[in-house]
Amino acid sequence: TNPELQNVLEAHNWLTKLYHHLLRHTKEGKDGYELLLKRGVTEEIIDTFQLGFAPNSNDFTKKFLENKGFHPQSMVKGGLLSYSENGLYHDRFRGRVIFPIRNHQGKTVAFAGRSINGKDPKYLNSPETDLFQKGKLLYNFDLARSEIRKLGEVVLFEGQMDVIAAYQAGIKHGIATLGTAITDNQAKLIRRYVERVIICYDSDDAGIEASFKASQLLKKSGCEVRVASMKDGLDPDDYIRTYSGEAFRKEVLDASATYMGFIMQYFKRGYNLNNEGDQLAYIEKVLDEISKMDKPLEREFYIKELATEHDLSYESLEKEIIDRRKKQG
Ligand code: CTP
Ligand code: MN
Ligand code: MN
Ligand code: MN
Ligand code: MN
Repeated sequence: TNPELQNVLEAHNWLTKLYHHLLRHTKEGKDGYELLLKRGVTEEIIDTFQLGFAPNSNDFTKKFLENKGFHPQSMVKGGLLSYSENGLYHDRFRGRVIFPIRNHQGKTVAFAGRSINGKDPKYLNSPETDLFQKGKLLYNFDLARSEIRKLGEVVLFEGQMDVIAAYQAGIKHGIATLGTAITDNQAKLIRRYVERVIICYDSDDAGIEASFKASQLLKKSGCEVRVASMKDGLDPDDYIRTYSGEAFRKEVLDASATYMGFIMQYFKRGYNLNNEGDQLAYIEKVLDEISKMDKPLEREFYIKELATEHDLSYESLEKEIIDRRKKQG
């Protein structure tokens, strides 16, 4: 392969080890270590995910890389150092807990650094490089792959902490898009491995909106979509810490909504169903969705549900569905 890429890959490999060592075994990494322990992450998991700490220094990483013979310029290109206006190179990740981002072969190709003192941004990620394209990478896919195959299912999270908390609780088929909307590329990749996807994004407004978008894309890619939700706007990591992994499995994953169940809930958010106009608009939207379903049995099931919900006749709703399906051809 390309020697320049190889070089950047090697630097990531060194830094993964260095940052991990600092976190585990040195005074410099103590703040990071304590943050993780406070959040209930075990030492075993810290090792499995090679979590680390980048010291709060302008030139610690820079000097380390220089000593290893890496050129600062190519390290800037690789996203490991930054270049300032004054012509100096400096460390990109400073005073942050480091989450190595592994590619699907298990090699570190980027880092996400979480601040430990509330400093913005909460997460600082590596820039896109030739090695790291966010829209093509699924976090933890390397470790989760065999479990995904075995279970015929994948759980899609928002953030790396959610993947890690679930993994620690024995739910090892979790992956994440790193805080960005899932891409067509990622949806297709998922579908190549597995049919059933449980979307398990944060249960805040942003997470619910993102779940809707992801559900559309994954559905379009041919996945069987389910959507999980948690009370009080929690995210999976919070939920597991508050209620246990067992509760997460039973009350969140096993209780996840079917695609239609989720969609009906979601559409209701936008409408005031006490208002006639809104109610009709809502019914139209749900009819559109039902008309797209391939299985007659499923169509019947949801037509019945909608009919009961709004005190309408099955026949009139069915006629609407038939009309729509004719138009779809
Ligand atoms: N994210 C990011 N940049 C930010 C905030 C978030 O890249 N400034 C990404 C991270 O990958 C993060 C994910 O979006 O894991 C989800 O964001 P959020 O829910 O805000 O973070 P949490 O994972 O819940 O963070 P934590 O539990 O560490 O507070
Ligand atoms: Mn270790
Ligand atoms: Mn979030
Ligand atoms: Mn979150
Ligand atoms: Mn969180």
